[in-house]
Amino acid sequence: MNNFSRIGFILAAAGSAVGLGNIWKFPYITGEYGGGAFVLIYLIAVSLIGLTIFIAESYIGKEARVNAADAYQIVSKSKNSSWKFAGFQIVTGIVILSFYAFIIGWILNYILISFTGFPNDIQKAENLFNNLVTKEIGKQILFHTIVTLTVAYIIVKGVKEGIEKLNLILMPLLGLILFGLLIYSFTLDSFSKALEFMFMPNWDKVNENSILAAVGQAFFTLSLGMAIVITYSASMDKKTNFVKSSIMVAVVDTAVALVAGIIIFAFLFSAGAKSTAGPGLVFISLPLIFSTWGIFGQIVGCAFFVALLFAGITSAISLLEPPLMYLMERYKVSRVKGTILCSLFFYILGIFALLSMSEDFGKFLTFFEKNLFDWLDYLTSSIAMPISGFITCIFLGYFVDQQELEKKFTIHVNKIVFKIWLALIRYIVPIAIIILFLNKLGIIK
Ligand code: PHE
Repeated sequence: MNNFSRIGFILAAAGSAVGLGNIWKFPYITGEYGGGAFVLIYLIAVSLIGLTIFIAESYIGKEARVNAADAYQIVSKSKNSSWKFAGFQIVTGIVILSFYAFIIGWILNYILISFTGFPNDIQKAENLFNNLVTKEIGKQILFHTIVTLTVAYIIVKGVKEGIEKLNLILMPLLGLILFGLLIYSFTLDSFSKALEFMFMPNWDKVNENSILAAVGQAFFTLSLGMAIVITYSASMDKKTNFVKSSIMVAVVDTAVALVAGIIIFAFLFSAGAKSTAGPGLVFISLPLIFSTWGIFGQIVGCAFFVALLFAGITSAISLLEPPLMYLMERYKVSRVKGTILCSLFFYILGIFALLSMSEDFGKFLTFFEKNLFDWLDYLTSSIAMPISGFITCIFLGYFVDQQELEKKFTIHVNKIVFKIWLALIRYIVPIAIIILFLNKLGIIK
């Protein structure tokens, strides 16, 4: 059978979850929202909202055992074919991949820089990053091409030989590198300051925006709302305890985010740098600190960006499998052909997105004051993902046979756990998503 082994599924799902969101985004939003209190809210958001939807998607995939577009219909009580529209999530994933791929390309660029030396003053560090994004089109397209070919090559090999194998290798390596960096950060004087920053709640900076950012991050970091968990779970071994594996994935994902945060803040505080640098934290502030450590800094920096690369690649392949599985099942396209089609789509869209940030082409690719890249990010993260999450809640909460649902859950967990999950999926999570959604659209403040 072409199914994941038990550990293969957990590693692949964790490989998808652990990505740029954990190592790049989590630390910088934690920095922006003031540390400890934000981390606490994030932990609550992951365990209540993120995990609830993760379990839901995993259930749908495992029961239906098909692509995400057909899965809702198969699992629904009435087998009503209009549930197929829930499959629009497949498109969300491939659109995200278009820009996720060239961001991984930026990481490749920083790995190369680690060999020659990082910039040693803030102006140079800022120029390096800004030039890459706004001027160096050829270089970005080259890296984007390398990333696309790599992702396509792995995906073409299939679930077992491609996805599972890659994750079996890269995830432990990623763990090892992060562990090494953690040990190193432990030796710095700033380690305790980093711990304090991450875990001592400072409620001053907390407002409704931090709560919304935490919920949004919980969604993104667990790869929810874009058919990934459904697709991977369709290849899960039938006997697997999907609740337990979901919890394990959430724990691994959270652990990586926390460890990345500790490492990065220990590094930053060791040089007296601020925690509020925003998206440039990893690409501008960190290289500057690495440069002050000489050759050792080059090694640490290289290790750091390689970790980021591994995290990114395992997430990228998970974005390609859902549309591919759909094409293969629905249109009987071969794996090779499907991979080529999907890859071409995200590759070309990615090129337009990266051009939209360039000085030369930006103005042609900016619509209503947002460039294409911002639009793609906005339409996926702020619109499509919350809508999918909401549909999944309503679907399992109200449109499937509840006795059947209870029966399938209670094979693995006791009745009380099931009841708590059901209350979350029926009432609490959908309401939370609606509030988040309306706020993102600017309808409520
Ligand atoms: N979960 C990944 C991260 O944290 C990102 C991702 C989002 C991957 C959506 C796949 C799908 O970076």
